[in-house]
Amino acid sequence: MSGESRDSGPAQHWDPQRYNRNAGFVAELGAPLIDLLDPRPGERILDLGCGEGALTAKLVDAGAAVVGVDASPEQVAAARERGLDARVMDAETLDFDAEFDAVLSNAALHWMLDPDAVLRGVARALKPGGRFVAEMGGAGNVAAIVAALFAVLEARGLDPQSAFPWYFPTPEDYQGRLAAAGFAVSSIALIPRPTPLPGEMGGWLETFAESFLKQVPAGERPALIAEVTETLRPQLCDEEGRWSADYVRLRFAARLEAV
Ligand code: BEZ
Repeated sequence: MSGESRDSGPAQHWDPQRYNRNAGFVAELGAPLIDLLDPRPGERILDLGCGEGALTAKLVDAGAAVVGVDASPEQVAAARERGLDARVMDAETLDFDAEFDAVLSNAALHWMLDPDAVLRGVARALKPGGRFVAEMGGAGNVAAIVAALFAVLEARGLDPQSAFPWYFPTPEDYQGRLAAAGFAVSSIALIPRPTPLPGEMGGWLETFAESFLKQVPAGERPALIAEVTETLRPQLCDEEGRWSADYVRLRFAARLEAV
């Protein structure tokens, strides 16, 4: 191993261009969530973890007044360039008070490791009776990718668990937390959804698995990515060379009970 530093900067960072290249499908696959939310013209809606705003823009197109929040200044800047009202905010310390008719969240809640703090903030942000509709990674999400990362890092004597950045709950776990935060749940389910990738597995790993990759020095990352990719090829790459990710979504709709 070289004397190069293992970690330079935050465990995960968001580059809007890299995200668009490797993860444009995230917003496209969020369309059913908008149907479930059923936004109405004039409603005030919070998009929690808005990223670069592709889904936020669809809510605006539906006639809603939308505020997007995200912890990444780079993603918020990209959302603002689309003309959206986007703000840098930590979802675990949301700063809104009974002002939204609905909260939407797509592919973001699994990055938030204190779910009860998030749910308290969402409940506080909603008007009584307000809707909370979201999709996130659920139990078993990207299990093959996680297993390959663990195997390759552990073979190098590293501790991948210490780099694990996600929370993938079961429906039972999340339903209990929603109820404790004051929500009545109308639907909640795990949805296995193998998801075709726009390119190679390496692009997905660079975009989403940065905290694991940063366990090795920058110069060793291409070899690490190649090894994880080859471990996954039999499971996640078809005969035509098309890659997919073994996503399992947790999708739910809930309503804040009036007190
Ligand atoms: C997801 O959307 O489920 C996901 C995205 C990146 C990393 C892990 C999970």
